[in-house]
Amino acid sequence: MPRHIFRLVLLLVAFAAMGYAAIVFLTVDSFFQYGHYRGDSVAEVASDKPKYQGTAYCQSCHEARFVAWSDGVHNRPDDGKIVRCETCHGAAGGRDDKAGLTHVSTGSVHPDNLKLTVPADTRALCTLCHEKMAARPAQQPQIVVAEHAGEQQCAVCHDPHSPLLNLVAAAPAAQQGSAAAGEAKAADCIGCHGDAGVSVDLPGPTLAGQKAAYLVESFMAYKTGARSEDMMNAAAEGASDEDAADLAAYYASLTCESTLSTEKQAVSSGRAAAAACIACHGADGVSTNPAWPNLVGFAKEHLVAALSAYRSGARTDVVMGGAAKNLSDADIESAADYYAGASCK
Ligand code: HEC
Ligand code: HEC
Ligand code: HEC
Ligand code: HEC
Ligand code: HEC
Ligand code: HEC
Repeated sequence: MPRHIFRLVLLLVAFAAMGYAAIVFLTVDSFFQYGHYRGDSVAEVASDKPKYQGTAYCQSCHEARFVAWSDGVHNRPDDGKIVRCETCHGAAGGRDDKAGLTHVSTGSVHPDNLKLTVPADTRALCTLCHEKMAARPAQQPQIVVAEHAGEQQCAVCHDPHSPLLNLVAAAPAAQQGSAAAGEAKAADCIGCHGDAGVSVDLPGPTLAGQKAAYLVESFMAYKTGARSEDMMNAAAEGASDEDAADLAAYYASLTCESTLSTEKQAVSSGRAAAAACIACHGADGVSTNPAWPNLVGFAKEHLVAALSAYRSGARTDVVMGGAAKNLSDADIESAADYYAGASCK
């Protein structure tokens, strides 16, 4: 055999021996136990606990959500019940870094390489803790989902970061106004809101029979600028708290009975879209709560404008903001159609 062939064969044998030695000495015993995987890695990954950063960590970057959550019912350190940010959004610290290696799947720490999930299905999320179950301790607030929410998402009515709808606090401590004094003061309003507070083809919406607390709140919102509309900002500019209470007492004392009858509801094309509103604004536009406005006697344009303003955030309200957030243009059109059918008798 020529010498160079002999040397080549020797070299190949040496490489093969080194390769074999590498497999024997350098790979762990559990390698190839389950095919081309390391058997022990299953237990190792499982022991790789998610790392929580804690709620304080979120404050600097998500101030608004943090404030809403801190004041909310899910933050109750006094009785040891705290639903932390990461309970709903997942661990923000990724996984333990073993031997300096970062898991590709989870990245390292939010926000750098790790995106947190935004729970889209609040029915699935909230019912984990709030669905009524026989074995669930009574101290945990529970609801019968079908009766309470129908098919709706919980976030329609509850702000996930501050879920308690505090109905008593939501109604402003309305100063008891005088309807008689209000009638005199309403002289300035007739041109736009109608003679007896019923507006037909006038620039302002119907006010007759509206909830007094809502009238005070919305009127004062124009004064403070929380709601902006040129005509109303001017009309409310010089008004005192007493004026607002008197005007509200007057308009609330007028009547606007809804014409929306059961027969009319049944044939309205908008009834499907309005199903999401009825729990609060009533099937006939008369709301179930003193802090929530009636929707009787409004022109369709006012309804569409109001809903679009809530959706865009131009008009802010925790409850209606949630209800309008996901409406499409077609939903707004249909729901407005439905309630525009509720005029004053
Ligand atoms: C250093 C600043 C910072 C901190 C601290 C921080 N975040 Fe974020 N967060 C961001 C940024 C920037 C984004 C937007 C980037 C993105 O979409 O990934 C974001 C996005 C999010 C999102 C939305 C993700 C999406 O897909 O839209 C959620 C939910 C979130 N953060 C929750 C949290 C929680 C919970 C904490 C506390 C454990 C936290 N963040 C701490 C900066 C931060
Ligand atoms: C009870 C569950 C829950 C808790 C607790 C919670 N969130 Fe959320 N969060 C949600 C849901 C549901 C959404 C999506 C709906 C929404 O935007 O309101 C959301 C949305 C967000 C978003 C916006 C993401 C986007 O792109 O719209 C941020 C940021 C966020 N949460 C941060 C936080 C922080 C910070 C905390 C703690 C201070 C927190 N969350 C606590 C359920 C929760
Ligand atoms: C991890 C469990 C958990 C999840 C998930 C959760 N909650 Fe809660 N929630 C609680 C606990 C615990 C309380 C009670 C706090 C207390 O006793 O003060 C509570 C209180 C409430 C309350 C106040 C009840 C009352 O009358 O005092 C409402 C409303 C509420 N949650 C709605 C929601 C909504 C909406 C979601 C989904 C966005 C949600 N919760 C997700 C555990 C949870
Ligand atoms: C149509 C509006 C609406 C929807 C949708 C809705 N809720 Fe409520 N929820 C309310 C109102 C109104 C209250 C009573 C207000 C209060 O006491 O704060 C309430 C109260 C609660 C309470 C407290 C009950 C108690 O007995 O203390 C819990 C818990 C709750 N809701 C959870 C949920 C969950 C979970 C979902 C989603 C499956 C949901 N809600 C969907 C309007 C709604
Ligand atoms: C120049 C016309 C004009 C005058 C005068 C006027 N308003 Fe208005 N008002 C409007 C318009 C237009 C709106 C609807 C604005 C909007 O969409 O935000 C409105 C809205 C309102 C609202 C809110 C109604 C709702 O359903 O949200 C109240 C309350 C109100 N006006 C009370 C009054 C009172 C009380 C006076 C008399 C002191 C008055 N307005 C004078 C034009 C007027
Ligand atoms: C959980 C209760 C709730 C639900 C559900 C709800 N609303 Fe409201 N709505 C309110 C409250 C509270 C206000 C007053 C907000 C404010 O002060 O700006 C309001 C205000 C309004 C206004 C403004 C009225 C005015 O006088 O300008 C319109 C229009 C309206 N809602 C329509 C709807 C429609 C349409 C739906 C269904 C898609 C709906 N709402 C669902 C509670 C609710």
